[in-house]
Amino acid sequence: MRIVMLGAPGAGKGTQAKKLIEKYKIPQISTGDILRQSVAEGTPLGKEAKSYMDKGELVPDKVVLGLVEERLKQGDCGKGFILDGFPRNTAQAEALDGMLSKINMPLQLAVSVDVPFEDLMKRLTGRRTCRSCGQMYNVHFSPSKTGGKCDKCGGELYQRDDDREETIRKRLQVYESQTAPLIGYYSGKGIVRRIPGTGSIDDIFGKITAEIEKIK
Ligand code: AP5
Ligand code: MG
Repeated sequence: MRIVMLGAPGAGKGTQAKKLIEKYKIPQISTGDILRQSVAEGTPLGKEAKSYMDKGELVPDKVVLGLVEERLKQGDCGKGFILDGFPRNTAQAEALDGMLSKINMPLQLAVSVDVPFEDLMKRLTGRRTCRSCGQMYNVHFSPSKTGGKCDKCGGELYQRDDDREETIRKRLQVYESQTAPLIGYYSGKGIVRRIPGTGSIDDIFGKITAEIEKIK
């Protein structure tokens, strides 16, 4: 099963991808998570990436493509993968097609999670993430029951550096201009399914899995 999750910042790509990996036992490849890990480790790549992420801009394609190519070579991708936050523009989508055709594993589904623009700001400013297990919370919609700690593992909850209003605005602009056109790109290949991303997380998950079952 080879899936791409499309959708604006805050649409719920990561939230849904985490549920999909539990159900289908295939890895989530989130370029945002990989880049944040490099930032936290203070690697040269992380330092370069941070300057773009803090401004809400895309990290250069060359950097991201290298990371994804390495990740796809790992054994756990043999049964499939869920790409979350990649590709982000047409150049990345074309490069991905090239990588996957070399290993004869073309994409099967591009799920676009559609959320009205006005809901995204509240979702992003309210997001909190567990530093240990990555579980996502939202102070407005799904707060942790234990306050500042993760209900699942007790880890510390943190707010992402790029979840400040000004940076969010820039990320949303970048999405509209560079990433939203990918819906047309994958429609042309006949693999897009558009899922309304409002409503309960479980309802949205049900709609996504219904589409996945059709391609299995
Ligand atoms: P990335 O980490 O990919 O961020 P993003 O695309 O901006 O998306 P988010 O992670 O913010 O949103 P999400 O859709 O995953 O929503 P979530 O599930 O968390 O990228 C960050 C940066 O890294 C980029 O700006 C760029 O600089 C760089 N980067 C990454 N990939 C790159 C690439 N390929 N090329 C170049 N640069 C790249 O949910 C959000 C909140 O909403 C949570 O609090 C959640 O609990 C809540 N929520 C979820 N579902 C619901 C619901 N149904 N109802 C109510 N609340 C909900
Ligand atoms: Mg995410």
